[in-house]
Amino acid sequence: MNIVVGITGGIAAYKAVGVVRALVRAGHDVHVVATEKALRFVGRPTLEAISRNLVHSDLYEGVAEVRHVAIGQAADLIVVAPATANTIAKIAAGHADDLLGNTILASTAPLVVAPAMHTEMWRNPATVSNIATLRARGIHVVGPASGQLTGADSGPGRMSEPDDIVAAALSLVGPRDLAGLRVLVTAGGTREPLDPVRFIGNRSSGRQGVAIARAAATRGADVVLVVANIEDGVLDADPVGLDVRHVSTTAELRDAALAEAQTADVVVMAAAVADYRPETVAEGKIKKETQGDVFDLRLVRNPDILRELTAARRPGQTIIGFAAETELDPVKLLELGRAKAARKGVDLLVLNRVGWAEGFGTPSNDIVVLTGGGDRVTEASGSKSDVADRILDLIPPPRPTPSE
Ligand code: C5P
Repeated sequence: MNIVVGITGGIAAYKAVGVVRALVRAGHDVHVVATEKALRFVGRPTLEAISRNLVHSDLYEGVAEVRHVAIGQAADLIVVAPATANTIAKIAAGHADDLLGNTILASTAPLVVAPAMHTEMWRNPATVSNIATLRARGIHVVGPASGQLTGADSGPGRMSEPDDIVAAALSLVGPRDLAGLRVLVTAGGTREPLDPVRFIGNRSSGRQGVAIARAAATRGADVVLVVANIEDGVLDADPVGLDVRHVSTTAELRDAALAEAQTADVVVMAAAVADYRPETVAEGKIKKETQGDVFDLRLVRNPDILRELTAARRPGQTIIGFAAETELDPVKLLELGRAKAARKGVDLLVLNRVGWAEGFGTPSNDIVVLTGGGDRVTEASGSKSDVADRILDLIPPPRPTPSE
């Protein structure tokens, strides 16, 4: 797809590099149209290297090829990120005093804007009215998110995360092959409290599960994402197109997953769930003065949520489990995966290796997917969003709900 990324002059322009990169990695031909002010925040060579195309900013360049309208006419999608209050006002008024304004006016492609500005500017009645004008015209507004702004202040106005912008933008034009499916995804790692200030947890960042949820929403699914203690920045406070439930312990994750699975067509258990929890949780902080030099901690088994889910599988429901293993030998790793797929009763098992520097917390992943019977169906490696799409490709087509 031919995608134009419009970059305007706000500090968040540096994050636009992430938007360009994600679109290129998703296989699109990306053309950056930057305002002169945007290029004061992020360098042309960076944008050209990442987009793999020339960056256009000057209305008076390429006049012979009528560039001021050609870029917009050729676009299948336009994403403006960041969109400053000034640019939003200009789009609302239909100004064409720079290349980006001309490009937008000359295009009939879907337009997505990702506002970024200080809270006062976002709440200013002028901006509120301009945004309402954009929405009324069918322009898609992504964000802004709430959080730390440039300087010491925080509040709504921060540009949405690049992955959220890309997911929202592609959902307008991409394949909608999962439309009509309700998908439950769990992500992150559970924490089991020892006392009010301590817990036993794991290093899962939630990145792979969140990438699966985003990719499913992009492909038209109705997505419920149950997240347990994901790393900061992996998900916006109010992500686009996802219904998010926050949990912390295995018991909470179990309650949310079992309830949501009752209406889900697909369940993806990407969360790293604690197998054990402390037998008792201390009311107050555990003190070394009372424990002495050795502290014996008794742990009890947690329920296996995945097994409960497969035991209660609805007709036609696809259940996907994960196996994160530290086994180095690939043959033994596959054997572990096959045994786990059978034990858990899943339809598909995503097998990956984790270790001190692998899997958890990293931006990329390397997986093998097995069927419930242990057959190898696919392998994928790359960014967690690429891997997410390869996993979702394996979901069987929607089946009619049985009448009984
Ligand atoms: O047995 P293991 O922890 O390796 O299994 C991993 C898979 O089982 C993951 O999909 C995880 O979400 C799920 N699981 C679970 N409940 C547990 C432990 C793991 O649902 N108590």
